[in-house]
Amino acid sequence: PAPTPGFPLPTTHTQQAYDPAADFTSKWTRADAKQIMAQSNPGVTPGENSMSPNVTMPEIPKDFPAMNDDVWVWDTWSLTDENANQISYKGWDVIFSLVADRHAGYGFDQRHWNARIGYFFRKTNADPAKDKWNYGGHLFLDNTSIGNTEWSGSTRLMQGNKINVFYTATTFYDVAERNAGGGGIAPDAAIAKALGNIHANKDGVTFDGFQHTKLLEPDGKMYQNKAQNPGFAFRDPYTFADPAHPGKTFMVFEGNTGGTRGSYKCKQEDLGYQPGDPNAETVAQVNSTGAWYQTANVGLAVADNKDLTKWSFLPPILSANCVNDQTERPQIFIQNENGKNKYYLFTISHQFTYADGMRGPDGVYGFVGNGVRSDYQPVNNSGLALGSPTDLNMPANAPEGPDPRQNGRQFQAYSHYVQPGGLVQSFIDNVDGVRGGSLSPTVKMNFKDGVTQVDRSFGQNGLGPFGYLPTNVRVGGEGLY
Ligand code: FRU
Repeated sequence: PAPTPGFPLPTTHTQQAYDPAADFTSKWTRADAKQIMAQSNPGVTPGENSMSPNVTMPEIPKDFPAMNDDVWVWDTWSLTDENANQISYKGWDVIFSLVADRHAGYGFDQRHWNARIGYFFRKTNADPAKDKWNYGGHLFLDNTSIGNTEWSGSTRLMQGNKINVFYTATTFYDVAERNAGGGGIAPDAAIAKALGNIHANKDGVTFDGFQHTKLLEPDGKMYQNKAQNPGFAFRDPYTFADPAHPGKTFMVFEGNTGGTRGSYKCKQEDLGYQPGDPNAETVAQVNSTGAWYQTANVGLAVADNKDLTKWSFLPPILSANCVNDQTERPQIFIQNENGKNKYYLFTISHQFTYADGMRGPDGVYGFVGNGVRSDYQPVNNSGLALGSPTDLNMPANAPEGPDPRQNGRQFQAYSHYVQPGGLVQSFIDNVDGVRGGSLSPTVKMNFKDGVTQVDRSFGQNGLGPFGYLPTNVRVGGEGLY
């Protein structure tokens, strides 16, 4: 691409694949992420969206419906198989969401400290515009999961009616923190799974028999642990199979670079500038800011047994050192392009987790390569795939206290989850001051050759039905279809 005056060129990424166990971590560099601003319009009326419509989620109406009146709903995923297909089970579509009680006396921003995994089901042939998702309640019985709070993960249908729920077992020790939200004793985090049974009949879907197993805790070497940083991230497991490595099961998850907080120093490879680029920063310049506090990575692990109860860490597949501190809810989506399997890594991130000197919206970010571990090319050269409408010329702030001069929809949605067919689902956070806690209208993002584009011919001006998570593979049936 032609460089934008005043901005550096992005890093060259080959997309070359490496062995999944190889000691190679792709870098989402400052040079890459600087393309977000290079592609943003500096001249918009303050408070408008400054990003290209191709990477901007259409505006969610302020009068959005609540999906459920008793629970707030946020991070959501479908029942899938190991290839990211979404499974209709005996005629029912099933989704899993983090939920928190709307009537327990705490606010929406305290949801993380009170999160449980809930589930919803709906007839596979339902009209997504009219038929509501039925709330099935909490997935696990009270006090049975590992940890006292359940954070995001993924759910896979195994043989017969067995399902594996991979989830984040977060344990808070501080009741004050749970009620007030933040500032207390740091929680523990482990990646866990629960093997259980799914049942379906004409009335709906139920689950039972869950057996919980702790799978992974951060090693402090490749993946930062709580002793090294009370604000560490270790969460959001997503498992998948790789046709290039048959018989193996892999997991991606959100992590941070191992080591004590503040000990990391930015390196040339984190900056990624082209030699002689007049708009490059030097390592010394970047290290004179606090940019080294931001050390997100996307972790990789491989299962050591068929029961998926034993796992080993592999080096991270992506790092965002000195760029961003959180690469959340990663997923791998494999798509055939021109006869070749292309691996898309999608992950969500925030405005407020960017490093000093960096700027980007809340939304989903993407990277494409030739294998699970590869020299990932950020989509659209920047990494930004789809963001909430934001004026990137204005300062970043948080959904609980947005700047009144900003675009009122900068926090309209988060936790984007890419489904087959490029359908992107998310939850509503803050639409021009109206807090959400319900699923957003699903949007469609076409992506190919490392370029993404919002499909504005989908639904109404690009907005599909609220909470549209259709299934593409049917299992069972028993006459229910
Ligand atoms: C994303 C997220 C996840 C985490 C959950 C906790 O919205 O931060 O990373 O599992 O929310 O509520």
